[in-house]
Amino acid sequence: MAEERALAMVTCTAPVNIAVIKYWGKRDNDLILPINSSLSVTLHQDQLKTTTTAAASRDFTEDRLWLNGEEADVGHPRLQACLREVSALARLYGVEGELSEVARRGSGSACRSMLGGFVQWQRGERPDGRDSLAHQVAPETHWPELRVLVLVVSGEKKQVGSTAGMQTSVDTSPLLKHRAEAVVPERLALMMRHIRERDFEGFGQLAMRDSNQFHATCLDTFPPIFYLNDLSRHIIALAHRFNAHHGRTKVAYTFDAGPNAVIFTLADTVAEFVEVVRRSFPPATNGDQFVRGLPVGAASLPEELLAAVVTEPVPGAVRYILHTKPGPGPQPVEDPSQHLLGADGLPRRCA
Ligand code: DP6
Repeated sequence: MAEERALAMVTCTAPVNIAVIKYWGKRDNDLILPINSSLSVTLHQDQLKTTTTAAASRDFTEDRLWLNGEEADVGHPRLQACLREVSALARLYGVEGELSEVARRGSGSACRSMLGGFVQWQRGERPDGRDSLAHQVAPETHWPELRVLVLVVSGEKKQVGSTAGMQTSVDTSPLLKHRAEAVVPERLALMMRHIRERDFEGFGQLAMRDSNQFHATCLDTFPPIFYLNDLSRHIIALAHRFNAHHGRTKVAYTFDAGPNAVIFTLADTVAEFVEVVRRSFPPATNGDQFVRGLPVGAASLPEELLAAVVTEPVPGAVRYILHTKPGPGPQPVEDPSQHLLGADGLPRRCA
C-alpha cells in the first residue's frame, strides 16, 4: 500500500468590506493598531470575494505564496506576521482563536472582513493590541432592504497607498488628530444607533459626512493626498442633487483611498438611481455589461427629475456598476475540486 502523505488543505472565501466610519491612521505600525475605531458593511460574496487555499505538509521545506497565479514574496513583514500568528493559534488551539487579530496584522481594514453584516473594529487600549478586534454590530439579515452600488470609475492603481498615506496624515494633519479624538467616538455611537434602528436618513447622512471628513484629512495632510478626482466629485454632486430632488436622503456615497464610488441605498431606489447614473455617464462600449451583480429592474425617469439631476452627462466615465448587498463573513469551501492548489501543494493549472 502506498504510504499516505499527510497534506492538509483548506479553501475559504472572504468578503470585501466598506467603511462608513473610516479607519485612517495607526498608533502602532508593526501591530497595525488604529488611532480610532471604525465601522463597516461586509459585502455579499455572491458578487465580490477572494478565494484562498492553504496547504500544510511535513514534506514542505519552505513557505510559498501565489497571488492571482503569480508567485509572490513571502518575506514581506506583514505576511510573516500573519503566518506567525496563524501557526501560534494552530499550536495552541487547533484552528480556533481570535481570527480578526490575525487578519489585522495583514491589513488593518481586513480584520472587519472576518465577520458578516455590520462590523466595528474597536481601537482598543492595550499596547500589545490584544483588544484591537473586530466585533459584529448586526448580522447581514438585519437590514434586508439595504443595497450597495459600486461605481467603478477607473482601473488605475492608486497614487499613494493607504499605508504610506495614513502615516503622512498621522505625522502632519492636525485635523486627523481632532477627528480621532473628538469626532469619531461620537459618530461611532450615532452610526450604531442608525444601524440598529435601520434609519437610512441618519445612516446615509453620517456615511457621507464621514467619507468627506476622511478626504478632508487627506487634503490637510502635508504634502496633500488626493484620492478623489473630478469624476468622484461629479458623483458626489449628482447624489446631492438626487437627494435634494426627493427632499430626503435616498442615496449615500462613500469613497476610500481611490476614486471609485460606493453608493448605499434601499432596494426601492436602485432602479431609478442606476438609470440616473446611466443617463449621467452613458456607457461607451459595454452597454450590456454596464450593470453587474444583483438584477436591476427597468425605470423610466420623470422629466422633472431628469432636468433637475442629470445636468452634464460625461460619456464613458463610469465603466460599470456592481449591484450587491450586505453579506456574511468568510465561508469554508467544502468541495475539494474548488481547491486552488493540487495534491502536490502547487497551483493548479487553469484549463
Ligand atoms: C480608506 O486597511 O488598506 O479604506 O492597515 O495600512 O493595510 P493598512 O491600511 P488599509 O486602510 C484602509 C483605509 C480606508 C478606510 C477603511 O477601510 O476604514
